Amino acid sequence: MITVIGGTKGGSGKSTVATNLAVMLAASGRDVLLVDADDQETSMDFTALRNEARTSGAGYTCVALTGKAVFTEVKRLAPKYQDVIIDTGGRDTESQRAALMVCDTYLVPFAPRSFDVWTLDKVASLVEEARTYNPELKAYAFINRAETRGNENAEAAELIRAKPALEFIPASLANRKAYAHAAAAGLSVTELKPQDAKATEEMGILFGYLFNIQKISELKRA
Ligand SMILES: Nc1ncnc2c1ncn2[C@@H]1O[C@H](COP(=O)(O)OP(=O)(O)OP(=O)(O)O)[C@@H](O)[C@H]1O
Ligand SMILES: [Mg+2]
Repeated sequence: MITVIGGTKGGSGKSTVATNLAVMLAASGRDVLLVDADDQETSMDFTALRNEARTSGAGYTCVALTGKAVFTEVKRLAPKYQDVIIDTGGRDTESQRAALMVCDTYLVPFAPRSFDVWTLDKVASLVEEARTYNPELKAYAFINRAETRGNENAEAAELIRAKPALEFIPASLANRKAYAHAAAAGLSVTELKPQDAKATEEMGILFGYLFNIQKISELKRA
């Protein structure tokens, strides 16, 4: 399965989610390719740090690709791996469009704040355009940096649910220091010691939704 973590808002948590999912897939025994399709190369930097921090190495392969090569090279590389995760930059770039053409699943984090949800229309039209070439494309949105109180999460969820191009997945990640602490150590939040149990649990739920998709319909029925 090829999963793109994208969206057109900078700083929404794409690299955080991409690197955590890559580590968690690798930890579950999968052969994983993490593609850094952002010129900032956050996923490449994270992987270099992880390779240094662990004697057993990163546990997955990471490559940087840009522009049309995101399509051509991922097409070539994907059959050699069980899972491909693509981390994109926070703009509507040629790289993100190429990733949308080649992937099975597009996952978009949104912070429950106006500047972030204002990009919903742009993201929905990117998905609709991509579906003319890639009709099987699944597109999911979830809330990252969820507030622990107030109505913002529910309001953002309602705005996302109003976009038929995107499926809202009720697997939010809260705003927690553990995400930055883990990244700074080259770890997934599930590996961080001392463990942040809530962060570990919510990342596990997001992971479960993505890689065991029938759970979504189970939750919807509940
Ligand atoms: N759930 C969260 N709680 C707290 N901090 C978070 C959370 N998710 C991401 N962050 C922090 O927000 C910052 C931006 O995250 P990240 O680099 O993953 O975003 P991005 O979408 O990849 O950004 P860019 O568009 O620049 O590529 C980082 O400092 C990261 O640690
Ligand atoms: Mg990033």
